[in-house]
Amino acid sequence: MSIIENAVRRLNQTSGIEPEARPESGSASAAAQGARRAENKEAWHPDDAGTRAGTLRPVAPREQLDIDLERLRERGMVVASNERSAIGEEFRTIKRPLLLQVASQRGIETRSGRPANVIMVTSSAPGEGKTYCAVNLAMSIAYEKDYQVLLVDADVARPSVPRTLGLPERPGLMDVLQEGGPDLEDAIIDTNVASLSILTAGTKDRHATELLSSQGMARLVAEMANRFPDRIVIFDSPPLLATSESQVLANHMGQIVVVVEALNTTQRQLKEALHMLDGRPDVSLIYNKARRFSSAAMYGSYY
Ligand SMILES: Nc1ncnc2c1ncn2[C@@H]1O[C@H](COP(=O)(O)OP(=O)(O)OP(=O)(O)O)[C@@H](O)[C@H]1O
Ligand SMILES: [Mg+2]
Repeated sequence: MSIIENAVRRLNQTSGIEPEARPESGSASAAAQGARRAENKEAWHPDDAGTRAGTLRPVAPREQLDIDLERLRERGMVVASNERSAIGEEFRTIKRPLLLQVASQRGIETRSGRPANVIMVTSSAPGEGKTYCAVNLAMSIAYEKDYQVLLVDADVARPSVPRTLGLPERPGLMDVLQEGGPDLEDAIIDTNVASLSILTAGTKDRHATELLSSQGMARLVAEMANRFPDRIVIFDSPPLLATSESQVLANHMGQIVVVVEALNTTQRQLKEALHMLDGRPDVSLIYNKARRFSSAAMYGSYY
């Protein structure tokens, strides 16, 4: 009797099941378990956290989750049902030059090598409206016929995209960047907005800056940018003056949008932030919170 047969017999004896009654014995059992593991490989389960040094494992990738559109509408953000609103119009204006840049660079190897369809939203200081603008921009582009959008929560220290959209925290960017982590496409979540998918920030990592500046990150951004020709990737990013992560992220980005908070961002702050971007030509500014009344409903009555 082989070692395997012996082991199977012992296992059957301890479980009180006769060998004939055990359909998955020996190597067949191992194969079946292997197959089951392969089937389950793509399921995220937070309870598995810690089985691989602080990372989470996958339990249902490409599962579709519902963005709380009603909550976004109440907050005066862009949703399809208020596309004629002031906020809808504003983000239509904001997205146009960004999309033109994407269209004009399509199929062209740019001098910088940075793909125009990868857009970073940042600011000089915290709280200026990066997430607000990144989500509105993503929603606005997702409602375009010709594009699909991947919104990446790259504010890895203080992620807020899931909270803003009413989605649960999931393994995401930081996990994908880990050795042996999930594949990018497995970590992306589809949503009830047909052309909008999300990659969360994932498990916090104290080496986030190093991970974001790694070759792995460069490869990941290239994969995000090139896998689908009509994909626009939007990175909600940390503030430039508060962390080193944004400066590192900027190296991978084809376009950078800097949010400037009306009446709050100082000229000096903004200059410093732009200086950190090293005179890049692909930087645009959004002047945010400029209106006295920011509620879309307030202006929606004009249409
Ligand atoms: N144009 C706007 N109109 C109304 N509210 C806004 C606007 N922009 C931002 N806000 C609100 O201001 C607050 C801060 O915005 P947000 O979270 O987007 O900033 P942030 O720059 O992402 O902050 P952090 O640096 O903490 O990530 C939020 O409550 C957001 O809803
Ligand atoms: Mg934010």
